[in-house]
Amino acid sequence: MTVAACGDLPSTRSPTIPAVSGPVVVILAAGQGTRMRSATPKLLHPLCGRPLLWWPVAAAQAAGASKVVIVDGPGGPLAGSFGDQVETAIQEQPLGTADAVKAAAGHIDHGETVIVLAGDVPLLRPETLIELARVHEHEGAAATMLTAVLEDPRGYGRVVRAPDGTVERVVETKASGDASELELLIREVNTGVFAFDGGALLEALAHVRSDNAQGELYLPDVLPILRRHERTVLGHELPDPTETLGVNDRVALAEVRAIAQRRIHERHMLAGVTIVDPASTVIDVDVEIGADAEIEPFTSLRGTTTVGSGSVIGPNATLIDAAVGERATIVHAYVTGAEVGDRVSVGPFAYLRPGTILREGSKVGTFVEVKNSDLGAGSKIPHLSYIGDADIGEGTNLGASTITANYDGYRKHRTTIGARVKTSVDTTLVAPVKLGDDTYTAAGSVITKDIPEGALGVARAHQRNVEGYAERRREREQAARDGGPQ
Ligand code: UD1
Ligand code: CA
Repeated sequence: MTVAACGDLPSTRSPTIPAVSGPVVVILAAGQGTRMRSATPKLLHPLCGRPLLWWPVAAAQAAGASKVVIVDGPGGPLAGSFGDQVETAIQEQPLGTADAVKAAAGHIDHGETVIVLAGDVPLLRPETLIELARVHEHEGAAATMLTAVLEDPRGYGRVVRAPDGTVERVVETKASGDASELELLIREVNTGVFAFDGGALLEALAHVRSDNAQGELYLPDVLPILRRHERTVLGHELPDPTETLGVNDRVALAEVRAIAQRRIHERHMLAGVTIVDPASTVIDVDVEIGADAEIEPFTSLRGTTTVGSGSVIGPNATLIDAAVGERATIVHAYVTGAEVGDRVSVGPFAYLRPGTILREGSKVGTFVEVKNSDLGAGSKIPHLSYIGDADIGEGTNLGASTITANYDGYRKHRTTIGARVKTSVDTTLVAPVKLGDDTYTAAGSVITKDIPEGALGVARAHQRNVEGYAERRREREQAARDGGPQ
């Protein structure tokens, strides 16, 4: 998996934040995620075209992380898909967040800044991580916790501040017994994101104990330990608390998706793309769209789709991993793995399948399916056709209901059609077969043999006219009526 653009996060293709020699970022991902009720691990559920875990990884990289360490469960089921973009640490048993960080100890050096965050907070912005590290280093703190003040702080650990404003400790609230009535009134919460001095973190982790309501090793418990060693522990409040929304179940996934989608829309609109109705438009995070393109309602641009400037996509178009050139039009169409050139017209009601290349100025019209075929510049397949495994030259026109019979039940065969060819309506091309340049077919032909350059292929039964048929039929019917019912 490559790690690239995401929402308003900078793309590896067009970085907007200069890479600085930044902190080590440790992402905790070894928890169970049971509340998703899914056979798929929580952090592999997709969010706008990328797995949940990809988002914090991309944010960390965009923030200039010197390395990203994923703390994964036994066997490393999640981190594997990131290849050498990340380092992996394995936590053998989920004994708590402090134990998870301990699992990554081998990747942490004394003297470097370490940012720890959870894998299920996909909306975190790189700017926030940069600012957290900056404040932390500027203040010379041992730990700086990113906090947020929430209307509804239920489920979060609450931040207990000392009279001088520094952070004393966090009280957990997931299981009853950790927090007092008074502490439950606190609305400032631990977002689960911290900056640490590496050496101080490693030393404090060794002293964390599991004498709490859940019997777990809590990461925030390093804070009072650091204070006892006369080290500074700060809280840095996040102005926009939606950034740290965590995904614990599918309800939260949908809420987070709406915010991520809005960010993606805004990025494109500010870059000059018209999105007529954002509410009905789905655009995945890696999609690229040129200026002055127009996205009409009920359109989905998925995966690695790219759209050139001035193109009009939709209404009702689905593009998956499609590459569309400039000033193309795609209306009411389903396009997957296809290349659509400049000024090409597609639809309404067209289906383009993988391996399809429509070259400049070509057209695929109404009720047409194209698979694994190359349509030359300016060529047209206007109506009611299936074209599979074909190579078609320039300036060719395939008449309505031209069909390639590309599959003999065992193997696929190719059809080759030259330039300036005109097939008439209802032509069946039985592959493998070749139509030379400037050839024609007669309507209703089943073409099984090659047609040489400049020739007309006629392959249909000869017509026989039966003279006087209507007259004889009328007489037969009259005779039957005269005979009357028996
Ligand atoms: C944690 C914090 C809480 C904070 C909240 C913010 C602790 C004890 N509590 O609670 O103060 O308000 O996050 O969202 O840290 N994980 C592991 N291994 C483990 C346990 C967890 O890798 O043994 C990972 C999980 O996959 C998850 C992250 O750590 O990505 C946080 O764990 P979670 O159980 O969700 O913590 P919270 O109860 O949300
Ligand atoms: Ca959580």
